Amino acid sequence: MPNDPTLDASVQWRIDHGTIDLRERGYRGTAEAILDAGLATEVRRLISAGKEADVYLCEYKGAPLAVKAYRLYRTSHRGGRPIKVDTMSWLAAHEFEMLRQAWKGGAPVPTPARRVENLLSMRYLGDADGPAPRLHDTRLDAPKDFLEAVLDAIGSLARSGVVHSDLSAFNILVYEGRPWLIDLSDAIRVDRTGAVPWVRLTQARDALVNGLQAVGAYFRKYGLSIDAATQADAIIVAHDRFHVLRKPEADSQECGRLR
Ligand SMILES: Nc1ncnc2c1ncn2[C@@H]1O[C@H](COP(=O)(O)OP(=O)(O)OP(=O)(O)O)[C@@H](O)[C@H]1O
Ligand SMILES: [Mg+2]
Repeated sequence: MPNDPTLDASVQWRIDHGTIDLRERGYRGTAEAILDAGLATEVRRLISAGKEADVYLCEYKGAPLAVKAYRLYRTSHRGGRPIKVDTMSWLAAHEFEMLRQAWKGGAPVPTPARRVENLLSMRYLGDADGPAPRLHDTRLDAPKDFLEAVLDAIGSLARSGVVHSDLSAFNILVYEGRPWLIDLSDAIRVDRTGAVPWVRLTQARDALVNGLQAVGAYFRKYGLSIDAATQADAIIVAHDRFHVLRKPEADSQECGRLR
């Protein structure tokens, strides 16, 4: 994966020789970068500080906007020095492209606006009081209907050619009474698979099963469940144009008929 933490040799050399300042841009630095890139005309405040990215509430000529800023460095889990992830722009570019594809296809995702290096801007889901709550933090009045709406949203995302690979109640926002899917940085394109279709579709199916199980875990408290495998199969089979995922039994039945 291009976003695997890689120790950039030139950066290592500069660390060793003390010629690099290995500090993440702070609030002020990121705000300046957002303004310099022309993504916003004002940075209002930090909405979320995540593992790989921070999200800011900004304004573009008076209209609210969310800007996601991917971090430039990632801390090494093996201890020692921070590792430069020189592919953070790639992550932002990928998320932007997935959002564009999903939005074009009519899926409920924040409308993407622009991407510059490790920064991407999109529609702000929320109001003056704050960002829309995550499904995880929401108490639903009509959980059954909402579960249907979530499954519709996932289906609509897949019909647009995108499978979310980090689905959970943390990456679904509840805005205007509906679910919105966010955080598409690891999303998988399934309409034009490019790579070997079997590999891509199998990867997408596994991701969907995990994601649907995670969403199912949230709905369990309402006494509702999701048949993750069946739902995932139904979604993926629709993209299996070359029938590469056909089950072995189906093949042997076919061979029997041909014999
Ligand atoms: N378009 C948006 N409008 C409003 N709030 C948003 C928007 N996008 C993201 N957020 C807020 O920022 C949070 C983190 O966004 P996201 O999940 O995309 O980033 P992340 O890198 O996965 O962060 P984490 O590591 O915490 O999961 C969301 O939970 C939500 O509160
Ligand atoms: Mg997230």
